[in-house]
Order: sequence, then structure tokens, then C-alpha cells
Amino acid sequence: MDYIARHIGPDQHEQQELLRVLGYDSIDALIAAAVPSGILADGPLELPEALTEYEAQARLRELAGKNRVLRAFYGQGFNSTLTPPVIRRGVVEDAGWYTAYTPYQAEISQGRLEALLNFQTMVEDLSGLDIANASLLDEASAAAEAVGLMSRVVKKGRRVLLDARLHPQVIKVAAERARAIDLEVEVANLAEGVVGEDLVGAVFAYPGTEGDIADPRPVIEAIHDRGGLVAVDADILALTLLESPGELGADIAIGSTQRFGVPLFYGGPHAAYMAVRAKLQRQMPGRLVGVSKDAEGYPAYRLALQTREQHIRRERATSNICTAQALLAVTASMYAVYHGPEGLTAIASAAHQRAADFATALEQAGVKVKHAEFFDTVAVEVGDAPEVVAKLAQDGYLVRAIDATTVGVSFGEDTTDADVAALLSGFGAQPGAAGEARLPQALGRTTDFLTHETFNRIHSETQMMRYIRALGDKDLALDRTMIPLGSCTMKLNPTAGLEAITWPEFANVHPYTPDEYTEGWRELIDEIRSWLVAITGYAEVSVQPNSGATGELAGLLAIRGYHVANGETERDICLIPASAHGTNAASATLANLRVVVVKTAEDGSIDIADLDEKLAKHEGHVAAIMLTYPSTHGVYEADVRTVCDKVHAAGGQVYIDGANMNALTGIARPGDFGGDVSHLNLHKTFTIPHGGGGPGVGPIGVAEHLIPFLPGDPNAALDGDGGVPVASTRYGSAGVLPISWAYIAMSGAAGLRSATAHAVLNANYIARQLQDSFPVLYTGNEGLVGHECILDLRELTDQSGVTAADVAKRLIDYGFHAPTLAFPVAGTLMVEPTESEDLAELDRFIEAMRSIRAEIQDIIDGKIEYEKSVVHNAPYTAASVIRDEWPFEFTREQAAYPVASLERAKYFPPVRRIDEAFGDRNLQCACPPPEAFDITPEVVEETDVVVDEKNESY
Ligand SMILES: Cc1ncc(COP(=O)(O)O)c(C=O)c1O
Repeated sequence: MDYIARHIGPDQHEQQELLRVLGYDSIDALIAAAVPSGILADGPLELPEALTEYEAQARLRELAGKNRVLRAFYGQGFNSTLTPPVIRRGVVEDAGWYTAYTPYQAEISQGRLEALLNFQTMVEDLSGLDIANASLLDEASAAAEAVGLMSRVVKKGRRVLLDARLHPQVIKVAAERARAIDLEVEVANLAEGVVGEDLVGAVFAYPGTEGDIADPRPVIEAIHDRGGLVAVDADILALTLLESPGELGADIAIGSTQRFGVPLFYGGPHAAYMAVRAKLQRQMPGRLVGVSKDAEGYPAYRLALQTREQHIRRERATSNICTAQALLAVTASMYAVYHGPEGLTAIASAAHQRAADFATALEQAGVKVKHAEFFDTVAVEVGDAPEVVAKLAQDGYLVRAIDATTVGVSFGEDTTDADVAALLSGFGAQPGAAGEARLPQALGRTTDFLTHETFNRIHSETQMMRYIRALGDKDLALDRTMIPLGSCTMKLNPTAGLEAITWPEFANVHPYTPDEYTEGWRELIDEIRSWLVAITGYAEVSVQPNSGATGELAGLLAIRGYHVANGETERDICLIPASAHGTNAASATLANLRVVVVKTAEDGSIDIADLDEKLAKHEGHVAAIMLTYPSTHGVYEADVRTVCDKVHAAGGQVYIDGANMNALTGIARPGDFGGDVSHLNLHKTFTIPHGGGGPGVGPIGVAEHLIPFLPGDPNAALDGDGGVPVASTRYGSAGVLPISWAYIAMSGAAGLRSATAHAVLNANYIARQLQDSFPVLYTGNEGLVGHECILDLRELTDQSGVTAADVAKRLIDYGFHAPTLAFPVAGTLMVEPTESEDLAELDRFIEAMRSIRAEIQDIIDGKIEYEKSVVHNAPYTAASVIRDEWPFEFTREQAAYPVASLERAKYFPPVRRIDEAFGDRNLQCACPPPEAFDITPEVVEETDVVVDEKNESY
């Protein structure tokens, strides 16, 4: 069987049945009716013939074989680490973990929320700060986020100091993004002190890129005296031996957690961290997990505060981060759990000892070591750094030429005696006696960390295996059920591609390995780039952005750069439809564009009259419009070309948000129907799994005239040419690209088209089957929807009190993850089944929704009050239905087994409905003590937990 037949849920027979219900003879007839003819692509995509799974893996092996993996002693923010096999297999390679969605539906996400809370606790402890988030995208963009945070808080300054001792890519990304929001950037060696006024703050390196360790306290004091804030960019492993930034007075700590068990992955994905003082918590970007309680009073986890950020605050949001690096944060947190504080300290001490031995042996051989004190990195003074580097590369070792006469050697977790000997020989030295410790005594760590019992209990492989399993079992992911999330495209992730990402020839390549050793990686990236060019109709694609929202930012910065290069600096307005995803507005702000909202017409399309008005009003100032196509309302709008033409005529550029490419791939190309730039969410349409909230990859495609403004090399000179880099490495989250590569290679042009057509088929089947129960809000030609449909509950809410959020929670009892809640329209559910679901699963969902509709009818008919209804009190835990006391008027069976099919396949959530408001009022973002769970449940007759729908966007 070819791959695409395995990927697409309905087989031929089922397809006929779906078409029969819809009244079409063929799937082509359905597509011809649903998609406006004006946007259809001329012919099939120009892609190679589809490969089978086995052929694709053989080709991936061939590509992997073209990489020569050098043992990585390069450092610069990326270090060798050992992923414990139990974690690799149990988390990174386990569908229960990698296919989970971002934990907005907290009741079915307690496992991954606990793991992320462990991550936050780990970061808080090691950084010595009050509150940490559950990951940022990478170290360089975390520095940019820290600068952004400072500038929001410290209103009076406009200058920011970046430590010249930061890694070059951190300086470059942070500086360029700071300049994009009109901050003045100064790069100076902060170990030598602080000069100047008018400061929002500084970012200090701890240790520096050459490995040297300077005391941050004088800088912190000097900046605080001037009213600014200080972020310390700290090596997380070094913090087990060095005093924490918080203890030393810093306001913010950032860094990467890659070296906590996450492979090098040729640059990413890796979870970055940020921790802040409590007073800054509401300004912190990214996801934050908090502890709340469920309806019975049990501690329960949920995403706090920031969850609603972009969707409520839009252009005033603290950041545009939506997808982060959840799976990698989970991996790093499990690494910390497994090793515990003592294990981590031992790993850090071993790396330090290797560095000390190495430095001592060099000194004994008369070679000069640049810095007396260091953690894991030794900067060696040599006559010709490139020569030393090249010679060691021939021997299989990757070290760094810091400058013409300095070589950096960084020690990770897996160094052997043979490695040290080989490295020393590259400098003409030999191993000698053990070296003395080289850590600065004044900065030795005195404060405790990882004292919570979770980090001190699970150290055997059996315990770890069971802990990972116990957490995973609490959650609903794609390996158990359809996740019908509109706009999120939770489709099948091909195992044949996933397997490749942990192959050592891909996973163990350091991102700054010279090109001559990475032929396989670059060939793979070139292929996927050229395929994405073919799929989108653009002239070029950059894979650097590591999330959809980062792609938005990169695309808007390209547009801004283009206007500025044309002397049109006054073009600073971004038109954004009212229905747009919240990240669009947040990204526009980060690109220093002003947001002007364009109204949405009755039918969900862009209001052309309002567009005309806005274009006229802002004549000469429009930089761009950001459209999503098909719109977030789930229909193909016939007049998209008109919209694009009008904006072009006004001198603006058209940004087409490609999050809905699952409705276009193989059928229409945004580059053909008017787009100048689009991002794609490879973690949606192109099958990279969601990982419980990341990783993501958000490549951007651009038309010819924008190519010079694509994201540049983050390691290029600060004032060099090229577009603004948005990630630490050239290819961003390269490590997961084999997944999309495999999907496209195994699908081919016909397969991709068929996938899109089946996505449309499945969505229309659901819309048709449910329209009598829940009206479908928007439809296009012939009453058809695109690849998703919005079910409108507002009238039912008026009649019964039952909200869309109630339905979302009740679906849990039927074993489903809810559809997208309250986006893009409050009071609705947006359903996207994707092409991967077969007829039986679609029907199971339809049965659940109809059954819930009947439960709502009981309220409308006066059989039960809303507050006492089975829907409003959902979901039900196993404990609640077997307890002696049963306070409800409906039966236990109705609560837990409302349809017969559940009798043999029942999922029970571990908690009842979670109180959102309590969690925000009593913000607690670290692991609760074990005794917090020793409670006597409150048996409630009716839950007073009302879910704020806006929390549950996608
Ligand atoms: C329409 C749309 N645009 C942009 C984004 C942002 O993408 P990401 O979450 O990868 O940052 C999303 C994400 O869900 C989306 O649905």
C-alpha cells in the first residue's frame, strides 16, 4: 500500500459513503464546488514521484550518511549531552507525548502540565528567581524577549546594553530585534563596567562566550542605580556550581536548556528558559503553567495568565509566542528529575574537571590559556586558530575558532579520556595530572536547588519509566483520539520521518559544523526548501523561523526592510482583519508596525468596503495586510484576489498566514493568488507533531523582491547585509525537518492534493451531519466549508445556559479533546477533523456531539436545571463516579458512559473541571508540596467553576 493511503483515514469505500452523504459524485467535484475557480493552481505540483516509507527511510539514511559527525567541543550555546534512553524512548519517541496538543484543555493535559511545571520549578530553582515560564524558542530569541520585556517595563530609557561576552548569535538576534522596535543598542564588555544613561537595561553573559566567568553584581548594581533591569544569560548546567543570578540580584535570567539531555539537532529544537522576579511576572512572554484546583478542591494544573495573551491583548500582548518548545522542555525537565540535584552537580563537576585537566595540561606544555577561571570552556591562545581547528576536524573533533588566534574548547557530558588526549594533541600537548578547580570562589553556589521531592525520588530506570508512563496516561493525545482542533490541524505524524530525527548522523551534528561536514543536512534542507517553493508558488523559502509566529515576525520584518530600502519609511501600518489569529497583531507590533483592524463581513470574509476606507484613510502608510486563507472562518473566500490587488495598488504588501495550508496544498498556491510572503506551520500541514505545545517550524516563502530580506545568518557580522535573523542558527529547528521531508517525499504531488481534498471532505461531512444539532456559522459556495467548520452554540446558550466551554468539557467524558473554543468567534467551536480520521472516528465524534445536544435539550425542555445538568458539571473522574455519595440527579452511567461505545474504551480525566479564575488569583507556578494533594474532596452538587472561554483558544 502506498504511504498516502495509510495517511488518509477514509478508504475508497468510506470516501464513497462520505460523498454520498454530501451529494457529490467524486472528490474532484466536491473540490470544484468548494474552492473558487479563480484561485485554483494551473496544474499538479512539481514534486518528485512519491516514495514508499521504506524508500523514504533509505533516502534519509543516505542523506544522514553524507553528514560527518564531528565530536562536538564547539560550545557557543550548544553542548554535547546524553539523552537517557528511557527518556528518549519514553518521551521524544513516544506518540503519547509527541502527538499531544498545547495544554489549553487542562483536564486532559495534567501529565504534560506536571512535566512543564517541573521544568518551571527546575528553572526557578537554578536561576534563583521567583517565576519561570514553560519555554521560549531558543537562547538568542530569549535574549530578544528579555530586552522586549525591559523596554515594556522601563519606560524612560531607550538604550540597551548587550554584553560583548554573549554568544555572537545572541548579540545579533537580540540587537536586530531591539533595533526593530527602535531601541538603541550598544555592545560592550560588561565585565569591564557600565557606562551611559537612558538605559532600559542590560543583558549579561554568565559565563561569557570564551568561557570566562565574571561577577554580575557590579553590573546589576550599576544598572539598577540607573533605573534599568538586568537579564543574565546563564548556562543552566553551570548554575549547579555557580551562584544563581537571582541570588546575585538579577531581575531576569535566560538561557538554553539544550544541554539537559536534548540532542544538538543541528541547531534545534531546544527549549530556552526565562525566569523573572515576581514583580515582572505579568510582563513575561510565553506559556506559564500554574497550579489551581478542580471542582472538588484537588490541586490541578493549567496554563495561567499568558494563555490568553495574544487573543485578548493582540497588539499589546507581551509577545507573539504561541507554539513554544514544550516537548523539549519536558525532555529537559525529565533529565533533571532523573539525575536530581546531585546527579546534575556531578555532571557539571565532571565537565568542569575535564576543562580544568585540559587547561592544566596545556599550560604545562607552555600553551597559553586565556582565562584563569572558567566552567566548561577553555579559550586557548594559538598562532593560527583556523589551522588548529582544521587539523582537529580531520581527527574528528569540532572546536571553535573564536578569533584568528583563539580556539575555544567546550566540554560536555560525554567526554572520554581519549577525547581529552586527542584534543590536547591538537595543541601539541599531552594529558597530565588532574587540574585544580578553576571556578571563581566568590561565585560558588551556596543556595539549594531542586529540593522538591520529584527531583529526589525518581532515579532508577524503573521509576523513570513508570513516572513518564503515569504522566502520559493522564493525557489525551492523538494516539488515543481525534483532536478536532480548528486551525491547528492535528493530523497523523508519519513514523517513518519521526524515526529519523534521533539517528545520530542527524541528531548529533553541532549547528556550527563547517558546511563541508554537513552535506547530508544541507541537501535535505535544500530539497525541502525547493519542495516548499513548489507548493507555495513563492520564489524562495527560509526554514529559519522556529514557530509560525516567528515566521510572521520574519515575514513582516522582510516587508518592513523592503519598504525602508525603497525609501518608504512612512509605510508602517499593518492591516489585520478582525478575525485574525492573535499572533498576527502581536507580530506586527514586534516588527514596529501599527495595527489597523479591518472589519469582517457578515459571511466571515473581509469587509471590502471597510478595506477601501482604511486604504484611503492611510494612503501612503500601508505597509501590509495580513490575511489568513482560507480565512479563520473556515471558508474559501472568492474575493481574495481582489483584496490582494487593492492592497498592492495602495503600495502595500500581502502577507498570507499559511496556517490553513491544509486546505490549499496541491490545490492553490498563495504565491499565485496574490501573496508576497507567507509562513507555513510545518507542525500543522506538514506533519511535525505538536509535542504538547512545540516544537514548531514556521518557514517563510517570499516573492522575488523580498528575497534579500529573508532572515540572515545569526552568526554574520552585526552590521552586515541581509535580513533580520530570528533564531540562533541558520536553519532554526532543523532537527525536526526530516519529518516534513518524509511526509512530502512519501506523498508526492497527487498525495498532497488528495490529503487536502480529504481534509475538505471530512470537514464537510461533519458539518453536514451536525448541522441539525449545531448550526454551522459560515459556509461558502453550495453551502460548503473548507477544511474546518465553526459550530455556533450561541442560540443554544441563550436557550439553555450551556456554553461552548461546557460542551468542550463534556466531550472529555466521551473521550475527546475539544474542538477549538471561542476562536475566531466567541460562543463557538471550530472543528477540523483533518484527512487522517476515518469514517468510524468521524462518526464517533458525531455521535458524541449529538448525544451532548440531547443532553442540552433536556435542559431546554425543563427536565433538569442548567446548574445541575450533566453537561455543566462535566467532566467526571473515576473517583467521583464510584464514590458512595452521588449528589447529582442524573445517573453515574450518564455521567461516565453516556454512549455504549465507551463501555469498552473509557478515558477518565484525573481531575474534575478546573477553576481558571482561582489559579490566576492565586498564582503559583512551581510544584506544589506533596501534602497539597492530601485533601478530602468536596462533593459538590453543582460546580461553580465557570470556564473563561477566552482561555481556551488554540
Ligand atoms: C492562523 C494562525 N496563525 C498563526 C499561528 C501561530 O503559529 P505558532 O503557534 O506556530 O506560532 C497559528 C497557530 O496556531 C494559527 O492558527
